[in-house]
Amino acid sequence: MKKTLLLYWAPGGSVEHVAKAICEQIGTEKVEISDVASFDIQKLGNYTNLLLGSATIGAEDWRDANDNNKWNEFFVKTQGIDFSNKKIAAFGLGNQILYPEHFVDSLGYMKEEVENHGGMLLGQWPAEDYKYTESEGEKDGFFYGLALDEDHQAEYTSSRIKAWIEILKKDMDF
Ligand SMILES: Cc1cc2nc3c(=O)[nH]c(=O)nc-3n(C[C@H](O)[C@H](O)[C@H](O)COP(=O)(O)O)c2cc1C
Repeated sequence: MKKTLLLYWAPGGSVEHVAKAICEQIGTEKVEISDVASFDIQKLGNYTNLLLGSATIGAEDWRDANDNNKWNEFFVKTQGIDFSNKKIAAFGLGNQILYPEHFVDSLGYMKEEVENHGGMLLGQWPAEDYKYTESEGEKDGFFYGLALDEDHQAEYTSSRIKAWIEILKKDMDF
């Protein structure tokens, strides 16, 4: 059985594109991938490693940003499920030029939600080489997960993914 599950939202855009690239990097035979809305939560217990992918689609509060954000539903439906025995990491997409004050904020909400479920995020990522002013997804020079900007730094995406997977390998043993 595959022990790694990658969940992402939304389908059809950059997040899905990057999600697939992450699976390729790990080895597609080792990762189950699904958009978060299609995933049957009953099966969550089958996986040790969870990779969670999202884009920040602006608003003051990411959770209120749009009713169509299925991550909100996921965290409500999984209330009461303990994540403490899982290895979890998040990747977040954003646009640092158009949204420099909210760059990859969704990583901050991922952290909060995972911690509300008793878990913690692995795979912190250095915030060097980005140009932004504020982010809910970063503290003390590190993002809470992999920050990607497909709109302005797409040329770095594959090397960033590669380096991040190397970091995760130490804990996730794919
Ligand atoms: C309406 C809208 C609002 C956005 N707000 C933010 C934001 O607050 N912070 C940020 O870093 N990126 C923001 N972005 C950029 C997206 O996160 C980025 O383009 C991402 O790659 C989109 O992924 P997708 O194609 O899978 O939807 C916004 C994009 C749109 C269209």
